Amino acid sequence: MDKKYVIAIDGPAASGKSTTAKLLARKLQFIFIDSGAMYRACALFALENNVNLEDISSLSDLIERIEISIEYSESGNRIYLNGKNVTERIREADITKLSSEIAVIGIVRKKMVELQREIGRSGGVIMDGRDIGTVVFPNADFKFFMIASVKARAQRRWLEAKEKGEDLSLNEIEDELVWRDRNDSTRLLSPLKKATDAIEIDTTNKTITEQVDMLLQIIKEKS
Ligand code: DC
Repeated sequence: MDKKYVIAIDGPAASGKSTTAKLLARKLQFIFIDSGAMYRACALFALENNVNLEDISSLSDLIERIEISIEYSESGNRIYLNGKNVTERIREADITKLSSEIAVIGIVRKKMVELQREIGRSGGVIMDGRDIGTVVFPNADFKFFMIASVKARAQRRWLEAKEKGEDLSLNEIEDELVWRDRNDSTRLLSPLKKATDAIEIDTTNKTITEQVDMLLQIIKEKS
C-alpha cells in the first residue's frame, strides 16, 4: 500500500485486535504497534522497582526513567524495557492485571500517548488498543472497533493458554476478562469506548482470515 495511513483498532481484551492488526500490517507493509504491550511494560517496570501505584511521586520518577522500544518483525514484534527483552514476561497473568490498573493513571497515559504519537507520526502504522481512535489518533484514516461475546473471547484465551502449557480454567479466564473490561471501560481517563466514527466489527463468529479480509476490503474501497 503506497498511502501511509494511520489505522486505529480498538476494542476489549481478546476481541481479535492484535492478531488482525498484525496480519493486516503484513499485507499492507505497515508497522504494527500493540499499545497494550506498552502499558504492560510500564506495569512490569513498576513491579520490578517495587513502586506502589498509589505513590504518584515514585511513579512519576519511574516514568521518567522508562525506555520502551519495539523491534519490528513479521513473525511478531519484540518489546524491550530499558534494553531488556520482556516480550514473553509481559504476557503473564500478574502483569495483565497490573497493566489494567496502571493504565488508569494520568502520568502513565500521558507518557504512553506521547510515545505512541511519535511512533505513528509518519504514518504507515496500525495501532491497536483502547483509546487509539478516541485519544491517540482522533484523526486516524481508518478506525475500527472490534467486539466479541465474552464466551468467545474467553475460549480464545483459553486455547492460547493451553498452547503455551498454562493450566487455566475457562471460568478463571472469563472472570479476568469481565474484570478487565469493567476496569478499562469505567476509568475516568480515556476509557475503552468506540469512537463515534469507528466501524464496529463483531468477531464472535468470524475466523481470523475473515476479519483481516473484511478490514482490507474496507480500506481498499476507500483508498
Ligand atoms: O491490549 P492488552 O490486553 O495487552 O492491554 C493491557 C492493558 O493495557 C489493558 O487492560 C488496558 C491497558 N491499555 C490501555 O489502557 N490503553 C491502550 N491503548 C492499550 C491498553
